Amino acid sequence: MTETAGSSRRPVHVTVTGAAGQVGYALVFRIASGQLLGPDMPIVLRMLDIEAALPSLEGVAMELDDGAFPLLADMVVTASAEEAFDGASWALLVGAMPRKEGMERGDLLTANGGIFGPQGQAIAARAASDVRVLVVGNPCNTNCLIARSSAPDVPADRWFAMTRLDENRARTQLARRAGVPVSQVSNMAIWGNHSATQYPDATNARIRGRPVPEVIRDREWLRGDFISVVQKRGAAIIAARKLSSAGSAAAGIIDSVNSIRNATPAGDWTSLAVVSRGEYGVPEGLQFSYPVATDGRAWRVVEGLQHDADATERIRVTTEELVQERALVGELISA
Ligand code: NAD
Ligand code: LMR
Repeated sequence: MTETAGSSRRPVHVTVTGAAGQVGYALVFRIASGQLLGPDMPIVLRMLDIEAALPSLEGVAMELDDGAFPLLADMVVTASAEEAFDGASWALLVGAMPRKEGMERGDLLTANGGIFGPQGQAIAARAASDVRVLVVGNPCNTNCLIARSSAPDVPADRWFAMTRLDENRARTQLARRAGVPVSQVSNMAIWGNHSATQYPDATNARIRGRPVPEVIRDREWLRGDFISVVQKRGAAIIAARKLSSAGSAAAGIIDSVNSIRNATPAGDWTSLAVVSRGEYGVPEGLQFSYPVATDGRAWRVVEGLQHDADATERIRVTTEELVQERALVGELISA
């Protein structure tokens, strides 16, 4: 066991793929500082990237050394997926080809689909028995489906795709409109795909415990600009930065993992794309973003939320997109 200053606990192995990329760069320092697994948990950071990116990744490792993080017990820098996932309890699958200006996420399916099958197999072969996987690389829902399908021995409830960044974006828009701190916005669910079809559900969200439509009375805004700003925020960041979001994505990853491993506050929920078991009529097996609550061990989709005709139609559209994505990668998930 590696001893780490301030803690005699056995380090948890955390894998970050695409660690040399811009999300990776914004993420690994936060992990090393304890924001992912808490201030008492030593970590072995296992960083994967393609061979050509290893010199750059070695530089990131040097910077991590220079951060003198007390919780960082050890690091691995590798281009081998098997080595990267060896013993991992958390696998954060960030590495992928990012969307460029003018591209839709669906364009990336074929480019990235081939990455996630082998990574799923390597997770099944080498990760720890308690491994949990968060897929961030886009299109993240279907990439997650591909990886999960390639690792049938890893229980389906251990696989997540990230829609927390969308939830965070939505909470900020609502807070700003209502003139309240973002901490006062709760129960903000993103439904469906992490794409421009996603449905950010303000109707069931709350501000200071009250339904959002009672606090923000501008229905036109709630059904119009609010939804489209959240749906298109990723594209707006790309247009502004000429690069896709990175700092906010890393924040979403930290938030996602914390909301998986810690109990959800009573009555609240969070957004995670999880395997559908048919809740709300969504086809089984899709990796679908739902309102999710957990006791810190087992999560559940929050059931019984009401949707009007507009919301029902939006959820149908995003579901249909995921069904089509699944059909496009059919060969990869039936292999
Ligand atoms: P980037 O291009 O800066 O970095 C991607 C990294 O992945 C590169 O270092 C690249 O070499 C590496 N990579 C490529 N193929 C790999 C493979 N087979 N194995 C390991 N590493 C590999 O991109 P980025 O800006 O860091 O974004 C990463 C991904 O995250 C993109 O797909 C982006 O669209 C996605 N993203 C998702 C969300 C979300 O909310 N779900 C938010 C932001 C970004
Ligand atoms: C985002 O939502 O910012 C990322 O998924 C990047 C993108 O392609 O939109």
